[in-house]
Amino acid sequence: MFKLRVMKAFSIILVIFTLGYVPLTLGDVVTEGKSLTFDRKKGNCLACHAIEDGELAGNNGPPLIAMKARFPDREVLFNQIWDPTANNPNSYMPPFGKHGVITREEINKIIEYLYTL
Ligand code: HEC
Repeated sequence: MFKLRVMKAFSIILVIFTLGYVPLTLGDVVTEGKSLTFDRKKGNCLACHAIEDGELAGNNGPPLIAMKARFPDREVLFNQIWDPTANNPNSYMPPFGKHGVITREEINKIIEYLYTL
């Protein structure tokens, strides 16, 4: 009897979780990536890079365009954002990942967005 009640409670909880779970679509990930890219307290990529739709962009870094064609290897792009100094010790692009400004997961969202440019 007790076991049955526990199982019933468990299945109700399971149903609630299943109903509450809305899977993230690629579109959502791209939208999140874009806001992380533009957020002045997160990526702040606009401080140095011209990006489509971005206002008041700096031009210390190259414009972020044709990203998929120029960075077919996702890992190269990831590493540039994680720690640009690994590839170019003189880079003054901040090592966002290494310094913990943005997480691995956030960089992956940013990359999904960059690949739409
Ligand atoms: C303080 C300025 C600065 C900021 C902020 C910045 N970058 Fe950069 N970025 C640079 C510079 C300068 C370069 C040129 C190459 C180098 O020095 O590594 C560069 C290069 C790049 C490249 C290689 C581009 C190419 O055409 O070779 C990518 C990709 C890139 N940055 C992405 C980003 C992203 C994404 C962000 C935000 C998370 C960002 N950058 C924020 C300065 C910056």
